[in-house]
Amino acid sequence: MATALEPTTFAVPEVRQTQMLIGGKWQDAASGKTFATVNPATEEIIAEVAEGDAADIDLAAQAARAAFESGPWATMDARDRGKLMTKLANLIEDNFDELAALESLDNGKPISDARAADLPLAIDCLHYYAGWADKIHGDTIPIRGDYFCYTRREPLGVCGQIIPWNFPMLMAAWKWGPALAAGCTIVMKPAEQTPLTCLRMGELAMEAGFPPGVINVVPGYGPTAGAAMVKHPGVDKIAFTGEHRTAQIIMADAAQTLKRLTFELGGKSPNIVFADADLDAAIAGAEFGLFFNQGQCCCAGSRLFVEESVHEEFVERIVERASSRVLGNPFDAKTTQGPQVDQDQFEKILGYIEKGKEQGAACVTGGNRFGDKGYFVEPTIFTGVTDDMAIATDEIFGPVMNILSFKDFDEVVERANNTQFGLAAAVWTRDVQKAHRIANSVRAGTVWVNCYDVFDAAAPFGGFKMSGMGRELGEAALANYTESKTVTMSLG
Ligand code: NAI
Ligand code: MG
Repeated sequence: MATALEPTTFAVPEVRQTQMLIGGKWQDAASGKTFATVNPATEEIIAEVAEGDAADIDLAAQAARAAFESGPWATMDARDRGKLMTKLANLIEDNFDELAALESLDNGKPISDARAADLPLAIDCLHYYAGWADKIHGDTIPIRGDYFCYTRREPLGVCGQIIPWNFPMLMAAWKWGPALAAGCTIVMKPAEQTPLTCLRMGELAMEAGFPPGVINVVPGYGPTAGAAMVKHPGVDKIAFTGEHRTAQIIMADAAQTLKRLTFELGGKSPNIVFADADLDAAIAGAEFGLFFNQGQCCCAGSRLFVEESVHEEFVERIVERASSRVLGNPFDAKTTQGPQVDQDQFEKILGYIEKGKEQGAACVTGGNRFGDKGYFVEPTIFTGVTDDMAIATDEIFGPVMNILSFKDFDEVVERANNTQFGLAAAVWTRDVQKAHRIANSVRAGTVWVNCYDVFDAAAPFGGFKMSGMGRELGEAALANYTESKTVTMSLG
């Protein structure tokens, strides 16, 4: 709720940066091309942004290589690297209002969400990894014979980072944090839908004093700029977040240069509510776990399994909550649901809603476009969903909740695991044994017990099965950005 200090509507920010950042300089695309980034709430163009492709990626990869191999970054003490990262985190905090507004403008998310989640989490992530910079070290190893053997953990090199549009700044922070802490250099391609906050972060990185070429930002499209990065022989690694089908293309494209790959992909996460749960908490958690960020979360609880004996009450109450969500202008502090990010996503979601109806699920609330301007979709709930329906198997990435009813423990575990994905899961119960048994049995990278979407920079996140490869966040992510070197020295 707005207080006297919090305005009820926020001002639309000025767009300061639309060029690309290569080797510390802001420049147009080599081709001179630009593309439009659109405000999804109004369908109006916000700005024209430099459109990078292979030529720009090549320049950025060269700049990143030069910064990796010589210059201040290559020889900088690890603790000073950490200090620069802290400075960047502080500068983001100093520009909190502007960045939150820019995120809301470009992505469509309610500004209150950007202020409560995206910004604080991004700042926290950079602080967390700043603390790691001088704590990455190898081991001494007692091998046979008269030798001294130790390992070094060296920075991996030039890292290509390709991020999506659902949490643009936060995804940039998740990727910059471990890469910079490890001493790597970066070529980042933000999503074509949402380049603006990443460009602004690039400006703040320059202000913080990162040496030229350490962080390069090249906006552009996936099949051009993104694919050029994946194929570039001067890029050592690709870190990608997005759709599993894109990851399959990236894996094939990366084969030629045998790049290191880490993937954070989609999901169809089971959210399991047992009859013995605190239903108030479970209902609030189910709403948040699915509708947060317009349903555009890789870990959305999009298969909601509710035990049969509480199904009727649960449905009645969750429908009431969903239909009281406030859709509208993302810059209004009261708004809890904004538009989907673009027309493609909007059409994809409406297509799945139609499929759900055709395949016999009951649409008990929503099911339509909201308003006639902007890519808004009503909060939608299906009941009577069966495991084989498209809405139960595919990632919809929108405000569409699918409720499936279950009878017993073994049945729900089997059904929860009956998916190609394995990103996250949640369970709601007051029975601690049941909670642990679910946590152990569900094949997913994250399990939340009596909570949902609890993220922390220190806690690893990533997927089993087709939901990903490797882990982001925590100490685990540092492994993605270092190579281990074994040094053996004769003492004889
Ligand atoms: P996408 O996977 O195509 O895009 C993500 C990023 O990859 C963007 O920066 C894009 O430019 C880049 N990209 C696309 N094709 C590429 C290629 N051939 N080589 C290198 N980079 C490439 O996802 P898109 O099309 O925006 O959304 C489609 C679906 O993907 C969504 O409906 C959703 O289901 C899923 N998705 C999952 C996300 C997650 O957080 N796991 C985030 C975004 C989308
Ligand atoms: Mg795509």
